[in-house]
Amino acid sequence: MKVPFFDLKRQYNTLKDDVWQSIQEVMENTAFSGGPFVQKLEQELADFNETQFAVGVNNGTNAIQLALLALGIGPGDEVIIPANTFIATAWGVSYVGATPVFADCDPHTWNIDPAEAESKITPQTKAIMGVHLYGQPFNVKALKQICDKHNLHLLEDNAQAMGATYEGKRVGQFGTMSTTSFYPGKNLGAYGEGGAVFGQFKEHGETIQMLKNHGSKERYHHEVLGFNMRMEGLQAAVLSVKLPHLINWNNRRREIAQAYHEAGNPKLQFQRPEPGAESVYHLAVVIPSDKKAFLAHLDAEGVGYAFHYPIPCHLQQAYAHLGHKVGDFPHSEYLASNCVSLPMFPEMTDEELSRVVEVLKKF
Ligand SMILES: Cc1ncc(COP(=O)(O)O)c(C=O)c1O
Repeated sequence: MKVPFFDLKRQYNTLKDDVWQSIQEVMENTAFSGGPFVQKLEQELADFNETQFAVGVNNGTNAIQLALLALGIGPGDEVIIPANTFIATAWGVSYVGATPVFADCDPHTWNIDPAEAESKITPQTKAIMGVHLYGQPFNVKALKQICDKHNLHLLEDNAQAMGATYEGKRVGQFGTMSTTSFYPGKNLGAYGEGGAVFGQFKEHGETIQMLKNHGSKERYHHEVLGFNMRMEGLQAAVLSVKLPHLINWNNRRREIAQAYHEAGNPKLQFQRPEPGAESVYHLAVVIPSDKKAFLAHLDAEGVGYAFHYPIPCHLQQAYAHLGHKVGDFPHSEYLASNCVSLPMFPEMTDEELSRVVEVLKKF
């Protein structure tokens, strides 16, 4: 039996009727760009994350850009981010003209190491943006303390952890603002591109609404240099159908992750949770004792896998001008060289799960 790394089609099959009905409603209302379906979703998202606002936008990368712009962060400023994240975290910082300053991860939690982050603070630093990597909340308490001490904004890149909790509260509500992505493969994925910005200060939400809509509050009156970063009505309608299922889907992801842990193979290192953190396992990443042998084993047994992410941000060619070299962030580099992502999606069958567990045990 082959087990795929991921299969989006299965979820679509379970939602087909509701999704098509919602799509038809958008069509009937010709509410294609922004509009009532986006507004409805924004309220549902703000309620979900217990924030003062949520603004739906065109993707998770631009969500980061808009959050930083709303805080007035720009050229000459620095934002501290983990070296081991999807590159988009860094793009958001670069798009506003600020400099991403990388910090290494903790070797066990694989999330940004608070002490490392603090050591990177300079007079130019304006914010620390943590990433709840693979669905696992970062050390919110420690980063918040550091930000408060140095008068910095805490931001959360929550693209991978919608629904995860830290000390009983959903992540995405701890920072001055947080952002998420609705890329199709995310725990809450659109049928196309999408993203959102969340926050606790309504004025930030108003600024972002204006920025995403050509810098305009009133049609054809443009107060500032704006963008077309609106969310599509179709994506909002699909997301409103999917959001009520997110908790169940995340619970199934937790079951899968737990079964992988309980396979109990000491040759596999798992991501260690922060105290008080409950992951939603966007990904099930392991570090095997011998990557080459492990991949050969998965290939032979027909189990799919992927790598998240094989090159850390500081060693990407796009950031060569920052002058980093191999060895600058050893824990991030080790993770990049050795990480293997196992099959993880809520629609995995019990049979498939048992099969992967058996394969993990046999390694
Ligand atoms: C950590 C992280 N940040 C940002 C993004 C960017 O989101 P998008 O692809 O919607 O632009 C993603 C996902 O792609 C991500 O995983």
